Amino acid sequence: MLNQILTLLSDGHFHSGEELGEALGVSRAAVWKQLKKLDELAIPYSSVKGKGYRLQDAIELLDKDKIQANLSQRLDILDILLDVDSTNTYLFDRASDHMGKRYAVLAEKQSQGRGRRGRHWVSPFGKNIYLSLLVSFSGGLTALEGLSLTVAIAVEKALKRLGVEDVGLKWPNDVYVDGRKLAGILLEVTGEYSSYCQVVIGVGLNLSLSDEDAESIDQPWIDLQKINPELSRNDVASLLLDELLIQVADFQQQGFAPMQKYWSEHDIYQNKQVVISTTKEDLRGEVIGVTRKGELMLKTESGVELMSAGEIRVRPAG
Ligand code: BTN
Repeated sequence: MLNQILTLLSDGHFHSGEELGEALGVSRAAVWKQLKKLDELAIPYSSVKGKGYRLQDAIELLDKDKIQANLSQRLDILDILLDVDSTNTYLFDRASDHMGKRYAVLAEKQSQGRGRRGRHWVSPFGKNIYLSLLVSFSGGLTALEGLSLTVAIAVEKALKRLGVEDVGLKWPNDVYVDGRKLAGILLEVTGEYSSYCQVVIGVGLNLSLSDEDAESIDQPWIDLQKINPELSRNDVASLLLDELLIQVADFQQQGFAPMQKYWSEHDIYQNKQVVISTTKEDLRGEVIGVTRKGELMLKTESGVELMSAGEIRVRPAG
């Protein structure tokens, strides 16, 4: 019933308790009980005597049929959730029961959205895209080399299909516009590290973040709303998922090598001086490209160093 109430309220206009009750065929008390759940989901709404209830902002709720209609690739399962701790955790918990399946999940809200390096990923209700995709690989961990870069390329290509140009990539898998982060990617692996394994690919893409939501973000950020306010949330979700499926399927067949040049053409630090922080040291040098496996090639004073994606941080040299 909560879903139905949200659908009625999603236009951002006032709806009286009576109207909501009639539309759903329930009492006003039952409506009121459901409205309490909006508080639990931290969805801002107001109630005005004589007018009824309205959401602070109109919301385009995720629509499974619309999203599926745009997919050109095989997808075995698609779950759309109102609320989840983390879409990555959700799929991770289900991975062993879905060997060999392509399983995707999108959520309206995450209560414990996770970023890289143990960071929190800000995930308010109905605003952004929180997407995870479970895929299987044979060939162990080495078969995954370059996957995180491929996922970033998929995000860039989806954005291009939506008409968003000038999207830049930051090794190994951040997506930038105007020097500000638009999307982040978190890959998690389970299974046999040397043979069969499953990967949960998590993508968080900012669609519309209020200053209040963004208060805890400690890096420059941007959302799609600022680039093109007309974009439909369901179009963004479906093209993102479609492009992800396309790029991952290509990667499963050919690996990262065909994408090597494409990456460098979109890398915001290509031919720039950067500092790379590893757990051991800070390395300074010029980014000269990536290898066929997706390692970053850094030209330092002592020669070319190859960096593998891990818990490594890249930042511009000051
Ligand atoms: C980053 O720190 O840049 C990675 C952010 C990844 C966020 C996404 S949102 C969907 C999926 N579920 C999570 O808990 N995290 C990823």
